[in-house]
Amino acid sequence: MRPGDLIRYKETGRRITVLTAWDSLSSSMVESAGADVVLVGDSLSMVILGHSTTLPVTLEQMLHHTQAVGRGLSKPLSDQPLVITDLPFLSYQCGEDKAVEAAGSLLKNSCAAAVKVEGAEPEVLKVIKRLVRMGIPVMGHLGLTPQSVHRLGYRRQGEDERAQEKIINDGIELQRAGCFSIVIEHVPSKVATQLKNHLRIPVIGIGAGHDCDGQVSVTADLLGLTATQPPFSPALIDGRKQNIEALKGWVLQQRHEVKIPTKGSSQQGPDYLPSSHMDQ
Ligand code: KIV
Repeated sequence: MRPGDLIRYKETGRRITVLTAWDSLSSSMVESAGADVVLVGDSLSMVILGHSTTLPVTLEQMLHHTQAVGRGLSKPLSDQPLVITDLPFLSYQCGEDKAVEAAGSLLKNSCAAAVKVEGAEPEVLKVIKRLVRMGIPVMGHLGLTPQSVHRLGYRRQGEDERAQEKIINDGIELQRAGCFSIVIEHVPSKVATQLKNHLRIPVIGIGAGHDCDGQVSVTADLLGLTATQPPFSPALIDGRKQNIEALKGWVLQQRHEVKIPTKGSSQQGPDYLPSSHMDQ
């Protein structure tokens, strides 16, 4: 799977599925679920590392997590989902050279085949053009852009006509700069529809209605694992509650067994192998 395949999918009307992953366990599940793209989103700063925004996560941490994501993929290379990694805050805002170095190090040292950047300010457009010229495919990100939380907050974007027009124009600029697709987050659905109809490259929505070329979701949100759920991303299951219940059961069982020890209580037996040594 290559970035250009997503454009082909749009041309043939095949809807694109993107799920986030942050380690080998999550990427292995996302791959088994059949997603087209694994996004190592900088949302891992909040979802996995416990920060209150996406700003603190570093380039080194994004590389570390992307490498782990790669180790979780097991299909033959040609069948593996495309891996895209977020360029974290300050890795591309300080000029083109620094951005090429940051994006290049992700592509050089992990399975990522593309990077994602937020916004369409003139400086960002310059960076995108340079990255694309250097052979680094770029996905854009418009609407709610969490790296700008201190300017925009987490509220829905594109609420008035002027803001909607700006998002469409930004999308056109991102396509012109060479992006192979764009994420559009938390905007009225008519904005995503307009953007989708205007652009040749796929528009992947999150909290932007169903009329997009594809959808992206934060896997931990879909599985109901996060303590606070974004309003536009309902959980499919109450994973947090189900996991806690299962673990509680185990804890209670162990306490019970400690109180009433049984003879020869090892349950692992002589043939026990840690799961990492078992055949798949
Ligand atoms: O960081 C992330 O997970 C993202 C998605 C919400 C699109 O950018």
